[in-house]
Order: sequence, then C-alpha cells, then structure tokens
Amino acid sequence: MLLQLPRKRENGLLIHKFNPMKIVTVIGARPQIIKAAALSRAIKSHYSSEIHEVIVHTGQHYDENMSQVFFDELQIPRPDYNLHVGSASHGVQTARMTEGIEDILIKERPDFIVLYGDTNSTLAGAVAAAKIHVPIVHIEAGLRSFNKAMPEEINRIVCDHCSTLLFTPTKAGLENLKREGFPMDKVGPYTIDNPKVYHCGDIMYDNSLHFAEIAEAKTHIISELGIQGQSFVLATIHRDSNTDQPERLNAIFSALIRIADKTPIVLPLHPRTNKLLKTNLKSEFQNKLSNTPNIHIIPPVSFLEMIALERHAQLVMTDSGGVQKEAYFFRKPCIILRPETEWVEIVETGAACLADADECRIMKAWQHFKDNPPTVFPEIFGDGHAAEFILNEMLQQEM
Ligand code: UD1
Ligand code: UDP
Repeated sequence: MLLQLPRKRENGLLIHKFNPMKIVTVIGARPQIIKAAALSRAIKSHYSSEIHEVIVHTGQHYDENMSQVFFDELQIPRPDYNLHVGSASHGVQTARMTEGIEDILIKERPDFIVLYGDTNSTLAGAVAAAKIHVPIVHIEAGLRSFNKAMPEEINRIVCDHCSTLLFTPTKAGLENLKREGFPMDKVGPYTIDNPKVYHCGDIMYDNSLHFAEIAEAKTHIISELGIQGQSFVLATIHRDSNTDQPERLNAIFSALIRIADKTPIVLPLHPRTNKLLKTNLKSEFQNKLSNTPNIHIIPPVSFLEMIALERHAQLVMTDSGGVQKEAYFFRKPCIILRPETEWVEIVETGAACLADADECRIMKAWQHFKDNPPTVFPEIFGDGHAAEFILNEMLQQEM
C-alpha cells in the first residue's frame, strides 16, 4: 500500500546524489535476514523505480540453515556483497565487519545505510557509517532491556545514537528514546545531530502476516515430526546469558524435561546452543534428552516452518526477541526465559511472562498458561505495513 507520494517529487525539489535513491542494507544474523525480506519485498512491489537497494551480508551467520535458506524461501535478492566474517570474539568480529562495510560505503556512496536491530552487524554498520557521514536508518530503534551486560544493549544504544532516522516498533521504544533525549518535535532536514524518530509498527509483523498462509500450504514439519493434531510446546534457546552459564542452561533443560512428561516439545536448536550443550549440560540431562522421545531436538528450521510451528503450538518458551513477538502475532502464550524483555507490552497484556532461567518459575508459568490461556491480544505492533511506512518516509527526506 502506497501511503503517500514523496513530497519532494511533488514539489519537484528532489535532488538526490543518485536517482533513484540508493540504500545500502546491512544484514548478517538470522533475524536481520528475515526482517530485511519485508523491506526488499516492499521496494519490489511499490518503489522499484525510486529506490535501489544494495545488500551487504556480513557473514555473521553462515550455516545454510541460518542464512541461505531465508534468501531462497523469502525471495530476498542475492546480497551484492558478502564479507564472510564468520564467528569470532565480539571485538574481532565487529572490527572485521566495520572495515568491510566502510569500504563498501566509500565505493557505493549511498543516500542511506539501513540497519536492523541490535547485533554485532548492526553495531559495525553504525560505526562505519557514522564516521564517514552516511546517514543511518535504524529499524527496530529504541528497544532497551536496561541490562548492559547484554551485548545487544550496547549495540542498540550505539546504533540509535548514531542514527538520523529512527523507526521504533512499539510505544515503549518511543518512550525510551524520549527519555534518552531524542527530540520529538524537530523539523528537517534531519541529520545525526537532528535525528527524527518515527513510531511505525513492527516490520516482523509484516512478514508474519504475509507468510502465514504460505507457510500453511508449503510446509510439512508438524506431520514430519509426528505431532499432527497434538498440543505441543515450541521452544528456542540461544541467548549467551543462558547457553554460556551452565547453571542457567541446566535449569531450563530440567524444566523442559519435566514438561515433556506431559506434552511434546519441539526445540529447533541454534548452533551456539548445540555446541554448548555438549560442555555445559549435565550428563544426567544429556542422557534424559536422548531417552525422551517427547523432546524433538532438531536443527534450525526455515522461517516458513518456524511460523507453522508457532501457529500450531499450544505455548512458546523462548529467550529470542523475535520468537516472543511471533508468539504474540499468532496469539500464543509465551514463557520468556530471561529476567527482562525489551517487548514489555507483551508481558503487560498478560500474554507472556518472565520466568528467567528459573525452573520453578518456568513450571509455574507453564501451569498458569495451561489453566488460563490468554485471550486478549491488543494490536501493539502496528498494522503490518511498517515497511511501506519506512520507505515512504525515507523518500521524503531532503538530502
Ligand atoms: C547473534 C546476535 C544476537 C541474535 C542472534 C540471532 C550478537 C552479539 N548477537 O547471536 O543478538 O539474537 O544472533 O540468532 O550479534 N554459529 C554457527 N553457525 C552460524 C552462526 C553461528 O555455528 O551460522 C555458532 C558459532 O559457534 C558462533 C556462535 O554460534 O560462535 C554464536 O554466533 P554469533 O553470531 O556470534 O552470536 P549468536 O549467538 O548467533
Ligand atoms: N527462526 C527461524 N528458524 C529457527 C528459529 C528461529 O526461522 O529455527 C526465526 C524466527 O521465526 C524469527 C527469527 O528467526 O523470525 C528470530 O531470530 P533469533 O531467535 O535467532 O534471534 P532474535 O530475534 O532473538 O534476535
């Protein structure tokens, strides 16, 4: 849906360095590839003659099922560049990405760089672009956990404070930015020193709406797992605070094993968790997992498979930001395996609860949602047209 024609074009004032507007989109981790699909789709459908998108994949995620599968399935254009940085410590990984992104920005000279969320790929894009004065568009701006031990919290604060256009998915995001001093009443032209904040809804909601029926038609994961028609729990675990701390990882798996006594559990396993289970999970639990057929531990699934699982699950347990939201989009209760969340509205509605990595709290939450499944899911993530809104606003900027 085209919201409105770009103002500058109506007035004949548009003087772009490039015509069409050129954007460089940086992606790298699984959720960013998925989010970028919504923007690329909207460009293709509505703005193909007005916006030229150059896609840079940092290579932060590289396994076929963490990267390529999404390009194929969600029809995302092939990246123009792949930096192939792979896995490394935060400093090394971010430095390699920053260097590669800087080179590309100097060569491409885009009107904007588009960054998503809060990963090291986001941080690298922000640092590279800000230093050479490429305006940053930050999608999923303003989210805060208020926990700076989380690497993502550092990444999102830096990126927000280097950005020119900030698109926040929720009211909580907007309020966080206000509190950090972002003015809400400034007029353009917008710059890093005169940034503009928009509340636009969640771009992931665009995708879930777009792909829900397609997933139903194209995927067979539930029958392949042999759980068709059964109530099941969908779980994901990948946060470093859970995988890297044995006592937390063991508490979560202890709860999962108890729940699996009653209900099948599907656990598509992130490669970080897969590696750390071997060292950080007690052998007693490793044995139980091998002997508990009700726990289906599988490799990461495709996005269509994931939303099919979310749609049919009875309940979701996760430490993922994206999966928390998707549970809500599909009206499912969610047990959040963290002490806090950036998506506070979900908890406020009662559709999700924070159980941390605490076995007792997880079991109580599971019982609570079994007895009282939530029924009210107010529209807190917009109207499913965040991508068009963002592109429309970008096109209206005076450069
Ligand atoms: C990253 C993001 C996190 C996001 C998550 C989404 C940062 C700091 N963290 O966490 O915010 O929620 O992605 O999934 O950017 N690995 C593979 N194959 C891959 C990718 C990773 O085996 O394709 C393994 C490697 O052992 C690697 C580990 O997973 O060291 C962690 O990967 P990394 O990208 O550093 O962080 P994530 O935990 O994936
Ligand atoms: N996802 C997926 N396959 C999986 C697990 C997750 O396609 O096996 C999708 C999920 O539907 C959501 C996104 O990946 O769209 C969430 O990414 P992740 O949990 O890796 O990161 P986070 O959102 O926590 O940053």
